[in-house]
Amino acid sequence: MNNMLKLHKINKEYHMGENRLHVLKDIDFTVQEGEFVSVLGASGSGKSTLMHIIGCMDQPDSGSYCLAGQEVTKCTPAQLAVLRNEKIGFIFQKYHLLPQYTVLQNVMMPLLIRGLGREEAQQLADESIGRVGLQERLSHRPNELSGGQQQRVAIARALVTKPALLLADEPTGALDAATGKEILQLFQELNEEGKTIIQITHDLTVAKAASRLVKLNDGVLECP
Ligand SMILES: Nc1ncnc2c1ncn2[C@@H]1O[C@H](COP(=O)(O)OP(=O)(O)OP(=O)(O)O)[C@@H](O)[C@H]1O
Ligand SMILES: [Mg+2]
Repeated sequence: MNNMLKLHKINKEYHMGENRLHVLKDIDFTVQEGEFVSVLGASGSGKSTLMHIIGCMDQPDSGSYCLAGQEVTKCTPAQLAVLRNEKIGFIFQKYHLLPQYTVLQNVMMPLLIRGLGREEAQQLADESIGRVGLQERLSHRPNELSGGQQQRVAIARALVTKPALLLADEPTGALDAATGKEILQLFQELNEEGKTIIQITHDLTVAKAASRLVKLNDGVLECP
């Protein structure tokens, strides 16, 4: 098994005037290819801060972070953007779909941004939408879909670029329990197909859907 990512002694502080807040404390975290891991933590424990670092949206103050064989902490902002774009599919609590576009157009978007031709983008988007079970909804707009369906579209969009890692921030946070369970089941299926997934959540029931659970406690990661 190869490492998908490895964080070593990662620290992050926020500075507000005289005050400094030590949010991530010597985080060691390794995720192997093909794992499905939950990061469980209470509000304010540093989950989003950690996710921003894992997702190459922010840099730590110290420590090393290797993602898919590349040392992230040595990357320039431009290199970071490329890495983020190529390696990671993001899923958010509130879907972040573009309301004026159809399901198909939303899922095609990341491919068009990469410069793929329309026909190829459409074919790949079609496949991805089929994978999440929404082939009947290609021409719907987000406001014509249920919350669970919108999250499926967001997952199709995250998958369409075939990222090495799916990174989900409270992916079921806006859904009722039954719909949330369906989304978690989809993650489990995708994981069985080989996709590496990290989800962050404050909800133990949600966290347990993963095959491994780590706890973030006031900036300290407890890996059993
Ligand atoms: N940009 C920032 N500047 C200063 N402090 C920040 C900043 N972002 C977060 N913090 C502080 O860092 C701590 C951790 O925040 P973070 O957003 O990572 O927590 P979280 O676990 O994601 O919480 P939640 O579950 O409520 O989303 C909090 O005390 C927060 O107030
Ligand atoms: Mg958060």
